[in-house]
Amino acid sequence: MSAHVPFDLVVRGTSQVVTCDGPRPSGPQGTLPHVPRGAVGVVGGQVAFLGPESQLPQERLAPSTKVLDAGGGFVGPGFVDAHTHLVFAGARDDEFALRCRGASYLEIAQAGGGIASTVKATREASLDDLVALAGPRLSRLLSQGVTCAEVKSGYGLDLDTEVKMLEAVRRLGQRQPIELVPTLLCAHAIPPEHKANRAAYLEVCREEILPAVASRGLAVFCDAFVEEGAFTAEEARSLLTAAAKAGLTPRLHADQLSSGGGAELAAELSASSADHLEQVSAAGIAALARAGVVALLVPVSTFYLRLPKYAPGRALWDAGVEIALASNVNPGSAMSENLALTLSLACLACGLSPEEAYWAATRGGARALRRDDLGRLFVGGPADLVVFGCSTPRHLPYHLGISHADVVVKAGAVAYQAPGATALRCI
Ligand code: NIG
Repeated sequence: MSAHVPFDLVVRGTSQVVTCDGPRPSGPQGTLPHVPRGAVGVVGGQVAFLGPESQLPQERLAPSTKVLDAGGGFVGPGFVDAHTHLVFAGARDDEFALRCRGASYLEIAQAGGGIASTVKATREASLDDLVALAGPRLSRLLSQGVTCAEVKSGYGLDLDTEVKMLEAVRRLGQRQPIELVPTLLCAHAIPPEHKANRAAYLEVCREEILPAVASRGLAVFCDAFVEEGAFTAEEARSLLTAAAKAGLTPRLHADQLSSGGGAELAAELSASSADHLEQVSAAGIAALARAGVVALLVPVSTFYLRLPKYAPGRALWDAGVEIALASNVNPGSAMSENLALTLSLACLACGLSPEEAYWAATRGGARALRRDDLGRLFVGGPADLVVFGCSTPRHLPYHLGISHADVVVKAGAVAYQAPGATALRCI
């Protein structure tokens, strides 16, 4: 790219540009890689200049250049929400009410609710219905500053519906600004028609669903829910090994409700991430650290399910494990697109510092998706960035559950502007 091409877009007037391009924060006062009073220049969807505003090359500002004034807010990379189940039909507010009266996630599932109820509604929905229902969820994520999201199947549990869900993800990826990364999660639950013969369902997963999805390029990752009432470690190992052979990278729902060796299995399979981890053991933490598996935490669902224990974010970070934070938006365990709340709970309940939490929701999320180009800002990288209405990342988790994303830029284009942005300014 020529150094003389005029900028398409310039962001200036910042308190700082947090790049997340450098070492992760270390220690309680650890800072994020940043440029004080930085500016960003964009050409063709990529970052073409990143440095102090005083060094912004004025000759590259043309009449056609769109200029965004951050008004003293900070700019950072878009959030990478690396664990969502946002394609689904039906609501589960009735089970939410039961949970408020003390019913557990497992009890609700055993009584025929839970994932099974979303499977029924999702099977009945058309592809168009699924696309229409997921659109507003993606708009809400965008308004929080999300520029890339992973989306799982797992509410079909048969060939046609798993494919339908992943086709919906593909269509949604073409119709709105957030980049979507699809994951096959046929091992989310045993479907009702196979309850008496789980081995038969695993064979359907391995011999029918996986090859169909892989051959059509409908998924990048293959996930499995290792849990009492879902899949055993042995079952997940056999499916994820076949998935890896078919070119899909393994990842796992691990150690959420009970400690079932999920983290150790993720390490053994060189999974990209082990997700949830409320019940991870010390041996599991050590295994993740050794294998370089990302620990992906979803504290909103811990809160939403009223679980007694949050994932040990502090211990994981101190053991050198890369942490990602995600919304886990889904109809059962986290009906929320609120990344701001995710950041707050990661600090208050998992023990991360605000800077660590910000890193985990950007660079950590990108690492969970094995995307080295995302979650950071650097010259030559994608111009996926957010102008926040506050001057430091520290303010985000402090201001509980409130989004401060004023402007969201995806690939150099303004994708979202908060209507009441000035009302939210906390500079
Ligand atoms: O990541 N834990 C399993 N899967 C989802 C919940 C799915 C649901 O209840 O519909 C999760 O929390």
